[in-house]
Amino acid sequence: MDERITSGVKKEEDSFELTIRPTTLDEYVGQTEVKENLEIFIKAAKMRGEPLDHVLLYGPPGLGKTTLANIIANELGSNIKTTSGPAIEKTGDLAAILSSLEEGDVLFIDEIHRIPRFIEEILYSAMEDFSLELIVGNDNSSRSIHIDLPPFTLVGATTRAGDLTGPLRDRFGIVNKLNFYTEEELKDIALRTSRVLDTEIDEDAAYELARRSRGTPRITNRLFRRVRDFALVMGDGNINLDIAKLSLDRLKVDRLGLDDTDYNLLKSIIDKFNGGPVGIEAIASSIGEEQTTIEDVYEPYLLQTGLLKRTSRGRMVTEKAYQHLGIPYKPKK
Ligand SMILES: Nc1ncnc2c1ncn2[C@@H]1O[C@H](COP(=O)(O)OP(=O)(O)O)[C@@H](O)[C@H]1O
Ligand SMILES: [Mg+2]
Repeated sequence: MDERITSGVKKEEDSFELTIRPTTLDEYVGQTEVKENLEIFIKAAKMRGEPLDHVLLYGPPGLGKTTLANIIANELGSNIKTTSGPAIEKTGDLAAILSSLEEGDVLFIDEIHRIPRFIEEILYSAMEDFSLELIVGNDNSSRSIHIDLPPFTLVGATTRAGDLTGPLRDRFGIVNKLNFYTEEELKDIALRTSRVLDTEIDEDAAYELARRSRGTPRITNRLFRRVRDFALVMGDGNINLDIAKLSLDRLKVDRLGLDDTDYNLLKSIIDKFNGGPVGIEAIASSIGEEQTTIEDVYEPYLLQTGLLKRTSRGRMVTEKAYQHLGIPYKPKK
């Protein structure tokens, strides 16, 4: 997808992510309400000796959905099997995974909104009655077979809860939205990463990383890694505020965490559409990005920080955005 450093979307950083990924609810920073509720539901499920109810996690990329899915399995003391919507192309793909489950397993389906509709239906009875109903054979001689599944917990993750069908969404007993993190929380995540990676970072430098991370832990960790390189080559290896500021400026991440793409997006609404309102399709074609990428990746943070707003007639750039970009603001009549 895109290559920018401030994208919450995952790139090739797997081994790095694995080492710094928290493994227990205690280590998972922020999302307090989600965490507290999950803790209770997990305890209750264990006390009853029943599987945890199915869990849906949704929110923008990089906020900790995959991490939390793994933590849930870990806290349940269960094995986790992982797949994703795009990996499920045929009915048989899903049937194979479901029939491989053992009692109490967690099945994690990432990007669950991307499972094709005709396959999705198989999930309904699997989730509801732990049974697998399959039609086998061809048009002339087809029959349906029924397979009992062991009780399991489905954890689904999606960046687009709105794209889930009603019947699927309704089968999740626990639905959690992950929110952007506060600067304080992201600072704690940077400090935690510094301990795991054994790289020292000053508190004010950690805060500087946090401020520029678009509310997203994945970006904090990615910036941490780059700043660590600057510290190693240009300093003594420890990250102080000067090194942090210098490297973040060199990486072209501004004090709100905005980069060229964000500038481009905001400026094109101002320049070409007089600040809006303008439809998402027009924005997408004017900056040469896919509509869904704008909606899932760029826009949530711009909305959250109040640089952009959504109206019934389209997106509008706010006065705050004009100020941030240093462009004179002329209120519309
Ligand atoms: N609450 C958190 N506390 C600490 N680190 C986190 C937290 N949430 C996410 N991270 C870090 O951010 C990275 C991205 O999280 P991930 O779970 O892959 O996001 P998502 O699946 O929502 O895209 C992980 O490698 C993890 O180290
Ligand atoms: Mg993920």
